[in-house]
Amino acid sequence: MWVLTLYRLTIGKKAIMAVTGLLLVGFVIGHMAGNLQVFLGAAKMNAYASFLKSLGELLWLARIGLFVALVLHVLMAWQLTRLKQNARPVAYQSRAPQVSTVASRTMRWGGVLLLVFIVFHILHFTTGTVFPSASTPDAIYPVWSATDVYGNIISAFRTPWVVAAYVVAMLFLMLHLFHGAWSSVRTLGLARSSNFPLHRRVATVIALVVWLGFSVIPVAVFLGVIR
Ligand code: HEM
Repeated sequence: MWVLTLYRLTIGKKAIMAVTGLLLVGFVIGHMAGNLQVFLGAAKMNAYASFLKSLGELLWLARIGLFVALVLHVLMAWQLTRLKQNARPVAYQSRAPQVSTVASRTMRWGGVLLLVFIVFHILHFTTGTVFPSASTPDAIYPVWSATDVYGNIISAFRTPWVVAAYVVAMLFLMLHLFHGAWSSVRTLGLARSSNFPLHRRVATVIALVVWLGFSVIPVAVFLGVIR
């Protein structure tokens, strides 16, 4: 079957990485836009959250799709790293990067860091299993609530280390998105050759918008702009 052939070929693995990566970029943009409603107040934010939950099976379908995309993305990254290591088991004696960027050189361990962030983030906001700020004495919304997503966000970002962790994670997300978004277009053969091609400019804008759109939330809560 062509899917299995794709899975076995190195270029197929890269194509799977590119397609799943682009799907995840789509989710990240949607999630950021949804989260920015926190600036519209508790009623709007919570109405949006409860609308998503009211989708029931559809929401679960999206969650499963997202999960499968993430697993395939990580699996392909792992397999491609192994292939690369096996092809060159001895490291270069001296390695001065010529054309690579910080973003491209941090794809692997930056990606692992993002994975750790996603696990923490789901336990933090979606399930409330780990909610470090719930016990702070000045918390306006002291406990995690399944229905008050707005309160959870305000409560979470009153703790400095939580704000710092999110802001640092968003920096890694920006780097990962910048390299991933433009190189996936190249992998899929959709790019035209140019010194600073359109897809690279688009990737730069996406990475910057996503970084700003996500980071502004913890920072605004911490500074008391939203409360
Ligand atoms: C400041 C940044 C962020 C904030 C304030 C935020 C907020 C939230 C909240 C409140 C939820 C729970 C929604 C609910 O259960 O009703 C959530 C879930 C989630 N977030 Fe974020 N998020 C942020 C960044 C991110 C980033 C960067 C990613 C991915 C790279 C991400 C991925 C997810 C995922 C996968 C879920 C679970 C979705 C689900 O359960 O259906 N989030 N986020």
